[in-house]
Amino acid sequence: MSILVTGGTGYIGSHTSVELLKSGEDIIILDNLVNSQIDMVDKIKKISGKDLKFYNVNLLEKSEVDKIFKENNITEVIHFAGLKAVGESVKKPIEYYSNNLIGTLNLLEIMKKYDCKKIVFSSSATVYGKPKTVPIKEDFPLSTTNPYGTTKLMIEQILKDLYASDNEWSIIILRYFNPIGAHESGLIGENPNGIPNNLMPYINQVAIGKLDYLKVFGNDYDTPDGTGVRDYIHVVDLSLGHLKAIERVRKSNGIEIYNLGTGKGYSVLEMIQAFEKINNVKVNYKIVERRQGDIATCYADPNKAKLELGWEAKKTLEDMCRDGWKFTKNLNEQN
Ligand code: NAD
Ligand code: UFG
Repeated sequence: MSILVTGGTGYIGSHTSVELLKSGEDIIILDNLVNSQIDMVDKIKKISGKDLKFYNVNLLEKSEVDKIFKENNITEVIHFAGLKAVGESVKKPIEYYSNNLIGTLNLLEIMKKYDCKKIVFSSSATVYGKPKTVPIKEDFPLSTTNPYGTTKLMIEQILKDLYASDNEWSIIILRYFNPIGAHESGLIGENPNGIPNNLMPYINQVAIGKLDYLKVFGNDYDTPDGTGVRDYIHVVDLSLGHLKAIERVRKSNGIEIYNLGTGKGYSVLEMIQAFEKINNVKVNYKIVERRQGDIATCYADPNKAKLELGWEAKKTLEDMCRDGWKFTKNLNEQN
């Protein structure tokens, strides 16, 4: 009996794979390495001290996915695999719809064929669009502003329709807020190709000297210091949420949605200050224009996950800044 982890060599998938192995689960990773590297497999084995099976397979290749199910006894799936860059999705909508939607449909079709009907899916707080109030609850209205977000919303709908058609399925949709940080070993973390889109990878690259300064996108939002406020969550806390979700899909059929966030919001300037203080480094920044599509404030009401999954984020902002920086320094020393 194994859990299939699609996208398991990616940022969140690798951390979750480590935690699954540490808790005694057998896992199989499927990833086509479009946004990750093969050496991640050995790193996951090293940190966890456990073995795993890896398949370099693209979800778009249905017959390859079928083979994985034929060769193994897969009882649950955690589905991380997908393209995730908001800006790129605006420029390459066909690639995003094709990869994320067809990849997921192929996976679900094969799961059905092999009577594997338990899945945990990676959705995003992006499906809340511009929320009217915060903290955000799971039953808030949904909307999106870019093709990436629309793929998440569409997949959520596909999963709802699937459950309505056959209530033997057990489906959990997890809406992540802003995962940051790295494993405390410093061996795995987020290492985006090219110039980072997201705040924390950018801050790390400025601090290490790869980039000159951070552009703070706007200081005229309706927030205490005018900069955007987000719910940053340590990637290891987020990973542990998946272990609780797996417990739940094993116990009962149904479809449930949970926010995975801390419930606390920090502004861009607060993040810079915290990072500088905790790591004793300087992060140069300049205030520039707002980034198109950004919202002022976004943070979760994480109570449903606490009540029903028995999960809550435990790590502090200090842990997030320290662990992320440790990984960045390690990576820099290797290169
Ligand atoms: P990531 O890019 O690091 O990992 C995704 C992995 O999926 C990569 O290793 C990539 O190679 C693989 N992949 C992509 N398309 C594939 C395909 N067709 N077949 C096989 N493998 C494929 O991203 P992440 O940050 O780990 O995110 C994991 C999931 O969580 C994604 O679905 C993402 O949309 C979602 N999510 C991420 C964030 C975030 O801020 N990181 C926020 C909300 C939701
Ligand atoms: N920011 C900057 N400068 C930068 C990058 C970001 O000032 O160089 C600011 C943004 O304006 C925002 C905050 O930092 O106020 C966080 O921005 P991120 O890009 O790190 O994160 P977002 O909240 O914009 O987006 C993230 C994921 C998306 C996901 C969304 C909602 O990247 O994939 O959360 O879950 F859709």
